[in-house]
Amino acid sequence: MPIIWIGLIIVGVIGITCLILSHFELHRLVVTEYEIASPKLEQIWEGYRIAVLGDLHNNEFGENNETLIRAVKDANPDIILIVGDLMVVKEWKEKDFSVTDTILKGLSKLAPVYYANGNHELRMEQSPEQYPGWNQEFQQILKKYQIHYLVDQTVLLKKGGTTIALSGLNIGEEYYQFKGKKRQMPPCYIENKIGNPKKDQFHILMAHTPLYVEEYAQWGADLVFSGHFHGGTIRLPILGGVMTPQMQFFSGLDRGLVKRGETRMIVTGGLGTHSINIRLNNPPELVMVTLRSGDRNDRYQKGKRVRKKL
Ligand SMILES: [Fe+2]
Repeated sequence: MPIIWIGLIIVGVIGITCLILSHFELHRLVVTEYEIASPKLEQIWEGYRIAVLGDLHNNEFGENNETLIRAVKDANPDIILIVGDLMVVKEWKEKDFSVTDTILKGLSKLAPVYYANGNHELRMEQSPEQYPGWNQEFQQILKKYQIHYLVDQTVLLKKGGTTIALSGLNIGEEYYQFKGKKRQMPPCYIENKIGNPKKDQFHILMAHTPLYVEEYAQWGADLVFSGHFHGGTIRLPILGGVMTPQMQFFSGLDRGLVKRGETRMIVTGGLGTHSINIRLNNPPELVMVTLRSGDRNDRYQKGKRVRKKL
């Protein structure tokens, strides 16, 4: 047999094997645990549990997402944060909010849910002529389940007379259009949208894209939650995520804990996919964070990472 045929057969077998593995991985949920300590957190916040979900993109884990909802319940969160992109908003997709409805219904029974926009929510809001009625239906679902929708807004989480600030940043669509290099964000961009954090108050920022981690740190966020990069689609040992949905290669910001000065950013690898429906060595994840009240010398600890097949 000519060598070219042998080569083609080997490439074909590897390709088909990867597709089969990816098919199963798309529905293999893991739970990743972090612990974040800060001297800004009073003792009363010790052990406070935050569930973070992002980029579900209409994916399902069990019927009506029962497996995912049960995983959140078992993790026992005090609050649940959604960092955008529950659905798929693309020209070639039919309007479908069935997954959005069932997941928000299930989560809202477990703990207060706070929701920040991803680029897909932003798209249907900013292009109503292209997506007629989409945003209205989405807003009705949020209202029905009393979801706290944070669009350039800040709320205070209260416990025993102390507070933590939580903001949802609605980043403009132009910052999602990656054309070979990062678009510059003007100084005071975040400040103009949500004001400045208080110096002694622990401030959590939900910001869908992790690309602007330097800007979030400069603004003064203590803890940032992002997603959007889908864990880099395929993760390689040492090199990490290969590519984002915007075709950024080896961004280094696609999954895990990122440190910039005093700021810690946790990037969820997300729960679903769209357009490039492949995941390899990059299982969908539910992120759980436990807050710790710690002194400055031990301000942040990367917590134990627990992977749990469900
Ligand atoms: Fe996204």
